Amino acid sequence: MCPGSFDPVTNGHVDIIERAASLFDRVNVVVMVNAAKSPVFSTEKRVAMLRACLSHLPNVTVESFDGLLAVYAAQKGATAIVKGLRALSDFEYEFQMALTNKRLNPRLETVFLTATGDKMYLSSSLVKQVAQYGGDISAFVPEAILPQIEAQFGKDRS
Ligand code: PNS
Repeated sequence: MCPGSFDPVTNGHVDIIERAASLFDRVNVVVMVNAAKSPVFSTEKRVAMLRACLSHLPNVTVESFDGLLAVYAAQKGATAIVKGLRALSDFEYEFQMALTNKRLNPRLETVFLTATGDKMYLSSSLVKQVAQYGGDISAFVPEAILPQIEAQFGKDRS
């Protein structure tokens, strides 16, 4: 299971999901609620954008869930949570979540994949900041969803 806010999905997320898809038989990407964040894109839009970016991966499915990840993983029979780690700054937060999820669902392991070098700096928040000011985000997100993101921030490509 690859859980996250994906608000919006970036090339960094796609890289982690592609690598998870080559490690595991099946990968379930789940758009979830992060209580600390107010998403810009609706859940439906985030799911649709993920599906558009991941259609080349036959063993990957995308859905959403509003509840506890540890409970959802148990319901789905998931054995592992896969998360990407970009820098030391990600570590404390991810470590805390991994330990909490393990406590809630002892059968669930969290697997961390280190971000690929040229994607270390990518984050959904920075993509949104750049897009908000009309900057070029084409290097940060898959081409398939570029128009949707730009439209959300009022940029017209036509
Ligand atoms: O992409 P994010 O925002 O870092 O992902 C965090 C997310 C959504 C995976 C996390 O907030 C989460 O698991 N939310 C679901 C509710 C839950 O289980 N919270 C306790 C986590 S220990």
